[in-house]
Amino acid sequence: MTIIERISEYADELVAIRHDLHAHPELGFEEERTSAVVAERLASWGIEVHRGLGKTGVVGIVQGRPGARRIGLRADMDALPIEETTNLPYRSKHPGKMHACGHDGHTTILLGAARYLAETRDFDGAAVLIFQPAEEGLGGARAMLADGLFKRFPCDEVYGLHNSPDGPRGRISLRTGPAMAAADFFDIRICGRGAHGAYPHQSIDAAVVAMTLGQALQTVVSRNADPLKAAVLSITQIHAGAAYNVIPERAHLAGTVRTFDDELRTLVSRRIREVAAGVAAAFGATIEVEIRDIFSVLRNHPEQAAAAAAVARELVGADKVDAAAEPAMGSEDFADMLLAVPGAYVWLGQEPGPALHNPGYVFDDAIIPIGAAFLARLVETRARSE
Ligand code: NI
Repeated sequence: MTIIERISEYADELVAIRHDLHAHPELGFEEERTSAVVAERLASWGIEVHRGLGKTGVVGIVQGRPGARRIGLRADMDALPIEETTNLPYRSKHPGKMHACGHDGHTTILLGAARYLAETRDFDGAAVLIFQPAEEGLGGARAMLADGLFKRFPCDEVYGLHNSPDGPRGRISLRTGPAMAAADFFDIRICGRGAHGAYPHQSIDAAVVAMTLGQALQTVVSRNADPLKAAVLSITQIHAGAAYNVIPERAHLAGTVRTFDDELRTLVSRRIREVAAGVAAAFGATIEVEIRDIFSVLRNHPEQAAAAAAVARELVGADKVDAAAEPAMGSEDFADMLLAVPGAYVWLGQEPGPALHNPGYVFDDAIIPIGAAFLARLVETRARSE
């Protein structure tokens, strides 16, 4: 019997867990119910449980045979502030909240691996099961690290995965080196002088300043960044004004910057500030720029990426593994765990459907045994005394 077949024997139980988590989505750092479900399941399989890391994070420890190797496996648990539009029987019961990124699936996959590892314990050392809160831009990984995750539970290596609704089902993709972008979030607050809409000469029009600055910032990527290095600067919010006949005194721009390179990241931040200062001077407005570091570049370590690819090939066949996948402009806070401990992060293809973060997104339950087998096999392969 293959490991996937073995885990498939209790797939019904795992799918029931997934549907329950899906029906009860919780936003970042609010995963009280979710973490309780995780802790209760782990304990029921005889796994040592630690709670409260990064507020709602959970760590489970499975001891194998005596051995020094400790392999970390990580899943994220949080949902998104999205109103679900599917008609699934287990659709979200929490208005305005939805597991639209499949973290309910990732949590279930790690639970599936946990049960298998607890039943078989066919490895030398320990598996450290990391159930992380608040992946969606709220800093859950950093919160767990700040609470001493790898000091209390040292790991030699750490692995994670994310579903990919680009398909095909069961395909495992990864790359060595930079795989997902760093992300900054920014807020730009413009203050001019409000006036009557009919008397523009009495104003410093914050709306015009915002429009000029928004256009000017587009040149940071097109004119300042090396064209051979990828960067994105997206203004995703513009707020100004509330009436037809009032020139607004204030405007607010917000958005995100994505890069794969620390030098370029610094350059883009610097140019945003310089362009804003120049536009402020030109119009006589004041402009405050706040840029926050949200995600680090996710870099897969060569040895662990190669190990993950080898396990994937053994599991799903070489034809369904792409070990040289294109990097993604999306971000992922597992990046910070990879800065602390060597490891790798992979994308697991599922039945193609609506994109991640779409209100119609559906996680594909058929990939649960595949993902669980992949994580469990990583422990069996990497925690092995010669
Ligand atoms: Ni996600």
